[in-house]
Amino acid sequence: MIKLLTSLLALSSIVACNDYIPFDTTRLDKSSIFEQFLYKDFPSSPWLPSKGKAWDNDKKEFVRYTGKWNIEPSFKNPAYGSDDKGLVLKTVAARHAVYYKLPTPFDNTDQDLVLQYELKLQSGLNCGGAYIKLLDQSEDYRGFNGQTPYQIMFGPDKCGSNNKIHFIINRPNPITGKVEEKHLRAPPMAKINDLSNLYTLILTKNQDFEIRVNGEVAKAGNLHSNVNLLSPPLYPNPALIDDPNDIKPFDWDDDVLVPDPNAELPEDYELKHLWEKIPDLKAVKPEEWDENEPLTIPDLESEKPQDWDDEEDGEWTPPHIRNPQCDETGCGPWSPPLIKNPLYKGPFIPRNIPNPNYKGPFKPKQIPNPDFHNDTNPSNIGLVGGLGFELWSMDNNIMFNNIYLGHSIKEAELIGNETYAPKLELEFEYKQNHKVNIKNEPIKPPPTFDEIINDNKVYGFIQFLVFIKFFLLKQFLDIVDFYYEFLRDPLNLITNQPIKFVLYCMIFVTFFTFICGLGAVLLFLITGGGQANPVYEKETRSKTKIEDDDDDDAKYDDEDGVVIEHPSNWEEREEPRIIELKDSDDISSATGAFTAEAKPRRRKA
Ligand SMILES: *[C@@H]1O[C@H](CO)[C@@H](O)[C@H](O)[C@H]1NC(C)=O
Ligand SMILES: *[C@@H]1O[C@H](CO)[C@@H](O)[C@H](O)[C@H]1NC(C)=O
Repeated sequence: MIKLLTSLLALSSIVACNDYIPFDTTRLDKSSIFEQFLYKDFPSSPWLPSKGKAWDNDKKEFVRYTGKWNIEPSFKNPAYGSDDKGLVLKTVAARHAVYYKLPTPFDNTDQDLVLQYELKLQSGLNCGGAYIKLLDQSEDYRGFNGQTPYQIMFGPDKCGSNNKIHFIINRPNPITGKVEEKHLRAPPMAKINDLSNLYTLILTKNQDFEIRVNGEVAKAGNLHSNVNLLSPPLYPNPALIDDPNDIKPFDWDDDVLVPDPNAELPEDYELKHLWEKIPDLKAVKPEEWDENEPLTIPDLESEKPQDWDDEEDGEWTPPHIRNPQCDETGCGPWSPPLIKNPLYKGPFIPRNIPNPNYKGPFKPKQIPNPDFHNDTNPSNIGLVGGLGFELWSMDNNIMFNNIYLGHSIKEAELIGNETYAPKLELEFEYKQNHKVNIKNEPIKPPPTFDEIINDNKVYGFIQFLVFIKFFLLKQFLDIVDFYYEFLRDPLNLITNQPIKFVLYCMIFVTFFTFICGLGAVLLFLITGGGQANPVYEKETRSKTKIEDDDDDDAKYDDEDGVVIEHPSNWEEREEPRIIELKDSDDISSATGAFTAEAKPRRRKA
């Protein structure tokens, strides 16, 4: 009895795992907030579920936050017993909102901001958020929802392959008077596993920010030295802009080079650059050309219009038309036709010289940008009045723990060192010790020949059968090897292993003939003495088909195994010889013929 008790005690001490010792918060600064969920349960904690509603885009109406929260110990790879609890999102595919109103608002003015929490995805995270929000002090959080103002949002968000650690900072724009939501561009990825992971956000008063995952820096930068770290940028507009009223004067000379005005024309300028066409000096005036004939003549067929008034319009004269005589002989003053100037090189281009009047590119006057504002102190986020989780998730059992909000990186590291680090070790150990058997365990290989022969449990007769089986199997594999080797390089194989080749051929022929003979006998018995040939043909055909699947000689295939014309690659084949046997009734002569012919391996029909 006592023995049983002691063993039970020993067992319980193993099961109860390791003692959970809460972190001593007196080691932290008074301004620091640390939440390790040392509550009996959710209702007795200061964390409150939202009574607000969220806009449902699908239903087109406001809906309640129906997701349940709990404060409970971890069930997945637990490190400690039931004393170590966390805040757990409990409902799949539901909206969750929970908040904690700080006893006194957290003031980060001109200080560093450090936000850290542990996250344990006990049922994985296929699609859902696991981020925390620092809530604006100005609000009453009873109706906490997506519209409740917050200063910073930080933490994992994953859906499918879209996996990121959000860092969003809300900054007021003094020009527009609106609050702008600025997201970290290219955020790092969250760790998706079933152990605790520690997420830390640091934003110093010098505007250096850092995201750490499990103590290691995952992303860092300075919000001022690269305003584009955030999207939209921390302060979007340049301080100075082009004056829209300052337009380029029309006489602004911004040509860098101009043609040299003093460039001298080349001597043969006209001939090479001016005259594209020149008169054909070889042309002569045609004999019939009449220089005295006028180019136009009065149109004698035209009549004076009826409404023509000599007094008002003057004396009427007929209009002139082209002299038809000119079309036949040519008339008027003659000049030689123009031809292409063979020396012409195109227009003359003087070389360029730097423009003596160059004034440089026009730059409009710079004036202060009316939209400009410099967010000089984004780390001064204003008073934080609460912590909140407003999440939708397809996966439940998301556990939050050891939330720290303070001004000290040291404190956050200390908490990490003393809570997260030992916990992770224990969780890992637990996981190692509770490995679920993998479904696809490797199958035990079948016993080898030696194993069976040496196994005393196997009887002698069975051993003999196994021996025969292995022997035949080995022979069969040898033959298969040999066959493929034969297809690959027949000449080499035969010259190197002639005896084996002959032997195998004989075995094959014997076996084949035996089968055929058996078939013939059977057929004979069934048909009562009909023709035996069909059996042969069937056999040979199937043989041909199997062994000839790389064959491209249709004619050969079409012969139904009866060889009339040999294919061009005859030497590569073994079957035809076999097929030929079909026509022979005498096995011994067939075998002889086969072996005799095997060596020259060349036949022609
Ligand atoms: C904005 O303010 C910061 C901090 O005073 C300064 O470093 C930065 O140069 C300013 N940016 C502009 C564009 O004035
Ligand atoms: C946390 O642990 C690391 C590694 O052991 C150590 O370098 C660091 O100083 C510790 N920090 C604090 C604040 O204890």
